[in-house]
Amino acid sequence: MKLVVLGPPGAGKGTQCAKLAEHYGVPRVSTGDILRRHVADKTDLGKKAERYMREGKLVPDDLVIAMVRARLGQKDAGKGFIADGFPRTREQAAALDGMVKIDHALLLFLDPEDLIKRSSGRRICRNCEAVYHVGSSPPQKQGVCDRCGTAVVVRHDDREDIVRKRIDTYETQTSPLVRYYKDRGLLREVYASGVIEEIQHRIRMALNA
Ligand code: AP5
Repeated sequence: MKLVVLGPPGAGKGTQCAKLAEHYGVPRVSTGDILRRHVADKTDLGKKAERYMREGKLVPDDLVIAMVRARLGQKDAGKGFIADGFPRTREQAAALDGMVKIDHALLLFLDPEDLIKRSSGRRICRNCEAVYHVGSSPPQKQGVCDRCGTAVVVRHDDREDIVRKRIDTYETQTSPLVRYYKDRGLLREVYASGVIEEIQHRIRMALNA
């Protein structure tokens, strides 16, 4: 399975991609997670990417494309991958087409106010990147990651004004990819409202279609 997953911030891409990766036995390649790791480790790429991420803007294409090319060149991605949050521009989509032939592009869509609610309640583990939500999926012990015991924190870009900016960025720069993949007969669309397992079921049905 070589799958690209599109959708606005907070649509549930990370949550659903983790389950898809497990189901298909391929890695989840999340450009957001890889970039956050670079920022935390203060690498050259992290230093360049940080201000874009904090402002809700996209990191420049050349940096992200080089990063994804390196990641998809790793052995575990040879038999497939779930690309979570990549591509986000036409240039990125064209670059990906030059690297591999994808099977489907999945669009997760949700009403704007639900996107804000999901992002504002999100907590992430600063160590293993596990994702929680204070309302719908809190950690068993408040403030502590179930998987590794590290403190869970609010993401820097989950402040409401930045989430709104990220939604604008998605609308202007990424949503044109819906047409890009539709024109190639690759688009599968799933409404991402409801219980996590129910949405996963809808996605699997859409991918088998
Ligand atoms: P990235 O980390 O990719 O963020 P995003 O696309 O804005 O998406 P989110 O992580 O906010 O949301 P999600 O859809 O994954 O939802 P989640 O499953 O976490 O990117 C961050 C930044 O990095 C970008 O702004 C940009 O600067 C940069 N970047 C990344 N990729 C790039 C690229 N290709 N090019 C350039 N720059 C790039 O769910 C959200 C919350 O809702 C969680 O708390 C979750 O527990 C909860 N939840 C999920 N599903 C449900 C449900 N069904 N019911 C109730 N709650 C739910």
